[in-house]
Amino acid sequence: MTKIQERVFSGIQPTGNLHLGNYLGAIKNFVPLQDQYDCIFCVVDLHAITNWQDPVELADNIREVTAAYIASGIDPKKHIVFNQSQVVQHSELAWLFNCVARMGWLNRMTQFKEKAGKDREKASVGLFAYPSLMAADILAYRATHVPVGEDQKQHLELTRDIAQKFNNDFSSRIEALGLGEPMTVGDEQVQGYFPLTEPLIGGPAARVMSLRDGSKKMSKSDPSDLSRIVMTDDSDLIAKKIRKAKTDADALPSELDGLQGRPEAENLVSIFAALADRDKASVLQEFGGAQFGTFKPALAELAVETIGPITGEMRRLQAEPAEIDAILADGADRARAIAEPILADVKEIIGFIGARR
Ligand code: TYM
Repeated sequence: MTKIQERVFSGIQPTGNLHLGNYLGAIKNFVPLQDQYDCIFCVVDLHAITNWQDPVELADNIREVTAAYIASGIDPKKHIVFNQSQVVQHSELAWLFNCVARMGWLNRMTQFKEKAGKDREKASVGLFAYPSLMAADILAYRATHVPVGEDQKQHLELTRDIAQKFNNDFSSRIEALGLGEPMTVGDEQVQGYFPLTEPLIGGPAARVMSLRDGSKKMSKSDPSDLSRIVMTDDSDLIAKKIRKAKTDADALPSELDGLQGRPEAENLVSIFAALADRDKASVLQEFGGAQFGTFKPALAELAVETIGPITGEMRRLQAEPAEIDAILADGADRARAIAEPILADVKEIIGFIGARR
C-alpha cells in the first residue's frame, strides 16, 4: 500500500483589503513550499459569501488575491492556483462533511463566535458550517500540509477531527474496498482514507496585530484603515501608517524578554523580522536602545522595499483580467482532475450508487 502523497493546500478569502497579515502570515510562507511539495493555492470565493459580498467587487477581489499569489512568487504553471467555486467537488464534499461533523464541534469555533457577533440568529448557516467547507477544501485533495496564520489553527484541528471520524466510521468499508492508507494516529498505526493534515504555522508573523491596537489581530474588517497595511497601499501610505502606528514611549529592548507586556512594540519588531527574513532576536540586537523615531522609518523603508514590487506586479496583472481568468480556469481544470477520483472514492465508501459512473 502506498503512502498518501504529500501535498500542500491553502486558501485566502477574496473579501477585499488583502493586508500585511495575510501576506506575512500566509502568502510569503507559501512561496518556499513550492520547492518541496506539490502545492494548491485556492481563492476561497465560496467562503467569502458566508457574509454578503457585492457581486462586482467579489469578482475584482478574486482577481486581486490571484494577482497577489502570482506577484508574490507563486508559479501557477508548476503548481495550481484557482478559485474554489469552479471546482464543484468542494461543495459536494462539504455537504458530506456536514454529515460527519457534530454540532458541538462547530459550536466551539471561536471564529464563528467572533464573526457572528452578538446577533447569532442573523448569521448565515454558511458561516456556521464554514469549517466543514474548509475541511472539504483540504481533503478533496487529501492534502497533508496546510500553511496558515495562527487564527486558522482551530479550523485545522476540526479538519483532523472530521478526517479521523470519517476514517473510523467507515473503517471496515475502507478496508473492504482496499482504499486504506497506513497512517499513524498517536502511537497507533491505522488505516484511513483521509490523511490527518499537518498545520504549518510559524515564523515571527503567524499573528500580525493591528497597528492601532496590539491586542487585536490585523484584519480585513477593522473599521480603521490605519489598523492595517493593505497590499495596494502606495509607498507614502505605507510610511504614514507605520508613522502613525501606536507605540509606547520606551526605547526598544535588546533582548526578547524586554518585549513582554509591550504588544505594539512586539508587533512592529515581528513585522520587521518577517519582512527581513530574520528572527526577532536579531532585530533587537540591531535596534536595542533605539527610539521608535529611529525604528519606524527603518521599518517603513523595509516595508516599502519589500511590498512595493509586489504591489506593482499586482497592478500590472490586474490590468489584464482575461489573463488572470485564464490562469484560474486552467488551475481549476487541474484541481478538478485531482478531486474528482477522490470524491468518487468517498461516495463509494459511503455506499452511494453510481459513484464511479
Ligand atoms: P483568511 O482569508 O481570513 O486569511 C488568509 C490567510 O491569512 C492569515 N491571516 C493572518 N496571518 C497573520 N496575521 C494576521 N493578522 C492574519 N490575518 C489572516 C490566515 O491565517 C490565513 O492563512 N478560513 C481561511 C481560508 C481558507 C483556508 C482553507 C485556509 C478556506 N479554506 C483551507 C487553508 C486551507 C480564512 O478565512 O483565511
